Amino acid sequence: MSTAAENQPRPTDVIKAWEDFVEEQVYPIPDAKAQSDYRNYDKPTRDTVREFYRQNHQHQTYAFVQQKRDEFLRLDRRQMSIFEALDFLNTLVDDSDPDLELDQLQHLLQTAESIRKDGHEDWFVLTGLIHDLGKVLCLYGEPQWAVVGDTFPVGCHFSDRIVFSEFFTDNPDHGDLNLSQQLGVYEKNCGLRHVLMSWGHDEYLYHVLQDHLPEPALYMIRYHSFYAWHRECEYDWLCDDHDRAMLPWVRKFNPYDLYSKSPEQPDWNKLRPYYADLLGKYLPEKLAF
Ligand SMILES: [Fe+2]
Ligand SMILES: [Fe+2]
Repeated sequence: MSTAAENQPRPTDVIKAWEDFVEEQVYPIPDAKAQSDYRNYDKPTRDTVREFYRQNHQHQTYAFVQQKRDEFLRLDRRQMSIFEALDFLNTLVDDSDPDLELDQLQHLLQTAESIRKDGHEDWFVLTGLIHDLGKVLCLYGEPQWAVVGDTFPVGCHFSDRIVFSEFFTDNPDHGDLNLSQQLGVYEKNCGLRHVLMSWGHDEYLYHVLQDHLPEPALYMIRYHSFYAWHRECEYDWLCDDHDRAMLPWVRKFNPYDLYSKSPEQPDWNKLRPYYADLLGKYLPEKLAF
């Protein structure tokens, strides 16, 4: 007899389903599909993804985000090098999914290698390699909807340009006058650094790395899933000039994150010395997670 836990989709399935969905259906490569197919997520075929967004939009409240920040941003769980964090992330592989190790590491490697191939700065390449390491949150037992997915500001109006925005009607903040106005708890153009984003791997990893990388790299990490901003041009009313100056960097990163999947798989063992040097240049031996 199967247990309730066994009937739950595994974190790895949800992450993969979400990533494929975002790439193929929400933000496909321009010109890869007819314009009419663009953002064609009205009739999603993937129940897993739909259910994922339903839970994400229902539970990511202002109070929930504050609680998760209190819980995780002390960064007192473990000290890890990036290599250890990559290994740790790879333990997301579970008994029944031998391919996941490859998927997670390959996504990071392929992202980094495509950035390198295009001749970008070395910190940009490094950002490609590490941008999803915040997914180690899954290994602390966090539900998938609190680790991956589009991110968005909480404490103010939920943009209807967010994927599956209809599910926000189930979010308790939606009916709260203080938390549902366009500005909500924020000042106009206060700057995104003063805005609480829905909780997930992006914000978490930003806090792990914030003292160590150039500002554009930190924006790429912190806002790479904030599609309503970098793709849909929403939430400018919360941005200041610094955010606007950083936005082109976030946009520059996005295609590498979404479209760098390649049948050619970079060989981690061969590349490891190059990345070890790069990590040594920018990051301390151990980081607090
Ligand atoms: Fe990500
Ligand atoms: Fe990614």
